Amino acid sequence: MIPESQVEDIINSNDLVDVVNEYTRLVRRGSGYMGLCPFHREKTPSFSVHEGKQIFKCFGCGKGGNVVHFIMLAEGLDYRSALEFLANRAGIEIETTGRRAGSTTKLRQDIMSVNKEAARFFFRNLIENKTAQKYCVDRGIDVKTIKKFGVGFAPDAWSALREHLIAQGVSEELLLKAGLVLQNNTRNSTYYRFRNRLMFPIFDVLGNVIAFGGRVLDDSMPKYLNSPETALYTKGNHLYALNFARKSESKRVFIVEGYMDCIALHQRGITYAVASLGTALTDNQAKLLKKYFDEVIISYDADTAGQNATIRGMEILQKHGFRVKVLELPKGDDPDDFIRKYGRDKFFKLADDAKTFVEYQVSLIEGRWSPKQLDTRIEFVKEVVELLAKIENRVERDMYIKWVSLEYDLSVETLGMQVENRMRGGKVDLDNFFVIKRAAVRADTKAKVSDENLTKRDRNEKMLILLMSEEVQVLRRVRKEISSDLFTEKNRKLYENLLKRDDRGESTGSESVLMDADIEDAAVISEILSEWLTPPDIYKACKEIIIKLRNAKFEERLAEIYEILKDKNLDDEERTKLTNEIKKILEEKRADI
Ligand code: CTP
Ligand code: MN
Repeated sequence: MIPESQVEDIINSNDLVDVVNEYTRLVRRGSGYMGLCPFHREKTPSFSVHEGKQIFKCFGCGKGGNVVHFIMLAEGLDYRSALEFLANRAGIEIETTGRRAGSTTKLRQDIMSVNKEAARFFFRNLIENKTAQKYCVDRGIDVKTIKKFGVGFAPDAWSALREHLIAQGVSEELLLKAGLVLQNNTRNSTYYRFRNRLMFPIFDVLGNVIAFGGRVLDDSMPKYLNSPETALYTKGNHLYALNFARKSESKRVFIVEGYMDCIALHQRGITYAVASLGTALTDNQAKLLKKYFDEVIISYDADTAGQNATIRGMEILQKHGFRVKVLELPKGDDPDDFIRKYGRDKFFKLADDAKTFVEYQVSLIEGRWSPKQLDTRIEFVKEVVELLAKIENRVERDMYIKWVSLEYDLSVETLGMQVENRMRGGKVDLDNFFVIKRAAVRADTKAKVSDENLTKRDRNEKMLILLMSEEVQVLRRVRKEISSDLFTEKNRKLYENLLKRDDRGESTGSESVLMDADIEDAAVISEILSEWLTPPDIYKACKEIIIKLRNAKFEERLAEIYEILKDKNLDDEERTKLTNEIKKILEEKRADI
């Protein structure tokens, strides 16, 4: 946690107009500034910055908020990292609350700076080492790429690095915690993890060195050694080269397995490539990618391990809402081999032919059971039917049924029937299936009807909070008259935070409401603020909104009760209870008016 006061400090030290100007050119217009929105394509400016209020709002795409929200959007960072980014920009050193939080953050920072020194040391060593350099040349890595990725070389002896680090006050313990050295228990000493290896620094999204991978220069084993998990580095929470890829402006990203694959693509201008470093893709990595991309092309090795990793990866990525495709390489080649042998255009050609999840799985089934041979054809059909029956979306399923029958010369009708049968006969219980489907459809139409109401209500709740933030006297009067249940979940948080600020004697202005808001809320709040006219009687305005909110709550409960009452099997006691509740609600409604 970063202390509240420091958050304020960070926000105040980064003037929104200056910050925005680094991303889009602002022109003074009236009392504010206008410019082309950095978040969507446009020809005429609809992006507006209010210098006094320190808020921005785009009337084209709807994004809005304060300087932290701006950086979250512009740099694709989460709240905490955006604050770190801004602190860094203003030269503020972040202090953290709580002893434990404080000490782990300190450790993380220490590891980061040791890693940075080590990376520099490895880099210098590469420049001085002919063998390692020759290795790079042989593998086609050019100098620009070496610099961009900070590739280095870990020599056998590290005394130079050690002396250098010790002179800077770095302890043995820190080297251990950074995973650069290992404990030798029998001799009660330490030894270096990476020796005689080509070194790849692993960066986080902000470009900090969080770990290393080291490759041998020959065929000895193990081929790669990686940093262990440290306070700074958790495997599966990062993606190699995402710090570069996120700046590419591409919505599509290639995922490859290895350092060399990734580097080879970047060197040829495909900067929207990341590597999962030989491990299975995780939910966290998918979430991380989702901030920047919406289409993924997986390009792993064509061996069995690669195929399994591809299927698992696709499942995870689809779950997170990506469009996913598989780029298939010739057996035995990885992306690095391929692009070096055949060049970038051929690689793009493969990307154009990339397969969808279903197409890819069908091709794997084809590999197992040839559809051209009579004895294996039936197995092929069985597995394909199994696969097609799993496609939930009907339109999509029909589409693939047509495609498979055309591609493999099967009868559409028969295949369709078999798939239907499979869906009915297998684990899917048809009765249940329809009941659930119907319930889902009902819930869906209900949700659609109330979407608009939800937006209205959300705005009203935020209006109320902003009105209360306008004058502390009003805030103190109104808070006695309402309870936080009046608000829906997210706004309740905002409201309760505002009260806490008041309890602590801190300022309760709209800027502090904005400080607590996430990206979505910030957009709405800054829209309200951008049209804000303080009403002559703030208290009265609050009351009007409170009545609206109460009514909305009542309506919702009433609808719920009516729905329950429709049930013919309801027992009498329950029925009376509910009818009484209706009466009570209607009375309260009248009293409010
Ligand atoms: N890997 C690892 N440890 C190993 C082998 C592999 O951590 N012992 C990871 C590395 O991140 C490696 C990736 O898995 O980059 C893919 O492995 P592989 O295909 O074997 O290596 P390549 O990247 O093709 O390496 P190279 O081209 O240098 O042989
Ligand atoms: Mn390789």
